[in-house]
Amino acid sequence: MEYIVPLEAKVAVLCGGMSSEREVSLRSGKNVLGALQRLRYKNAELVDVSSNIMNDLKGFEYAYNTMHGKYGEDGCIQGILEILKIPYTGCGVMSSAICMNKEYTKRVLSTCKDIPLIKSVFVRKGEVVNDKVAEAGLKYPVITKPVSEGSSFGMTKVNNPEELQKAYDEALRFNDDVLIEEFIEGFFVTVGVLGNQGNEFATEILEIRTKTEWYDFDAKYTKGLSEFIVPATGLSKEATERVKDIAVKAHQTAGCSGVSRVDFMIKDDEPYFLEINTNPGMTDTSDLPAQANVMGIDYDHLVLMILNSVGLNK
Ligand SMILES: Nc1ncnc2c1ncn2[C@@H]1O[C@H](COP(=O)(O)OP(=O)(O)O)[C@@H](O)[C@H]1O
Ligand SMILES: [Mg+2]
Repeated sequence: MEYIVPLEAKVAVLCGGMSSEREVSLRSGKNVLGALQRLRYKNAELVDVSSNIMNDLKGFEYAYNTMHGKYGEDGCIQGILEILKIPYTGCGVMSSAICMNKEYTKRVLSTCKDIPLIKSVFVRKGEVVNDKVAEAGLKYPVITKPVSEGSSFGMTKVNNPEELQKAYDEALRFNDDVLIEEFIEGFFVTVGVLGNQGNEFATEILEIRTKTEWYDFDAKYTKGLSEFIVPATGLSKEATERVKDIAVKAHQTAGCSGVSRVDFMIKDDEPYFLEINTNPGMTDTSDLPAQANVMGIDYDHLVLMILNSVGLNK
């Protein structure tokens, strides 16, 4: 595989940060640093991102971004790196900001007719939630989501209009804007997208079967509550190809670069788009390394591919 970043380059592995996903990011960072060292990048170092980041980045020539959530995955750190003219991996300012917000992602993707979006309504703080859901004609059950959280935080499955206000109030604890979607009674899959602009390709699909009603916070972080199947077995051959195609189209339509992971629900062999994660986890138990691994891209190779996505103004 090609080395685009010179081996002697000073590479900052950005991790940690100030989001609720700080701990996961520190684990991602450590794993990525290990891979860079095995790839013979001897001047790679971990940088735990704080408000002193402008100073901490002095002397670095490239940045490998392994931050998740607020400030790391939403365009903020990408903006700082643009100003400092330090080429960085993965998505740029605009696509990071769009994809951090589930409503704005859907607005952008609605311009591509091939991406199946779940019927939903966007409700701002102060609006009458029951009226908005009724006006939009959503069928129950629905699911309430803060527009820019991860890890299923603040989300509730709502079975009838009487339960709606409480669920909406819960989502408002996280963000002032709430996305309410029809609930898809199906199973969850996720697929990675790799490669540089114009040459993107999808990884194998990872399917997650949960013992809980949906893939909520507990299912995500309690051992034994979910089963991972990769490559996925619950989809027909045609649906498998469709999910991969839609993932690449979603990545391209949102202006992503280098890497992303696209989530879907599957019902009756039909995919429904959920969200794009612009900086997916890179721990040894994360989804993307497993998806890449089953197609013959081992962890170090994956890190090199992502490193090769460095650039500015993307
Ligand atoms: N419309 C929906 N219907 C059914 N399940 C959903 C729906 N939206 C989300 N979920 C479930 O909630 C989980 C988290 O949703 P997602 O939109 O991916 O947010 P997060 O950013 O928290 O990962 C999904 O993995 C899926 O299991
Ligand atoms: Mg998700």
